[in-house]
Amino acid sequence: MILILIGYMASGKSTLGRILAKKLNYEFLDLDDYIEANENTTISNIFKLEGEIYFRKKETFYLKKLLESKTNLVLSLGGGTPCYSNNMEMILNANNAKSIYLKASIPTLIARLKNEKSKRPLIAHIETDELLEEFIGKHLFERSQYYSLANATLSTDNKSEKDIIEELI
Ligand code: S3P
Repeated sequence: MILILIGYMASGKSTLGRILAKKLNYEFLDLDDYIEANENTTISNIFKLEGEIYFRKKETFYLKKLLESKTNLVLSLGGGTPCYSNNMEMILNANNAKSIYLKASIPTLIARLKNEKSKRPLIAHIETDELLEEFIGKHLFERSQYYSLANATLSTDNKSEKDIIEELI
């Protein structure tokens, strides 16, 4: 079984995925970490040196590979993964896989991302909090149509980590 966590940047995919995998005794993989390990570089460098289109191609390539996994796996995707190419279709059609959208509100995401911009090439250049808020609002609106196709949606606002993990299980 592959449990696929999707959601916007800073929605908790990797943190919660790691804990969930431990609880279930599943393997844990984060797609961004997997790309970095296999490409021997950072996501930021891929964006900087090769551009976003190249990154999206790599992302689709490694997603496809991981969806063929036969071991029990919790897989955390990048925030944009479901929104490019035919990735969401692949996710929904993957054998023995379930996708869960970790839904966080715009204020929650803004509060987290204000302090976590630097490692995220899509927002690293946004200078003021006001512009960041505007960007996230629009971006999340565009992406929600993909996220909401997931097999399940879990709202995470105002819930403890423990409660979210219990709900996920
Ligand atoms: C991206 C999110 C990032 C990473 C890349 C692009 C996006 O992952 O894949 O910077 O398009 O939202 P996180 O969601 O883990 O930040």
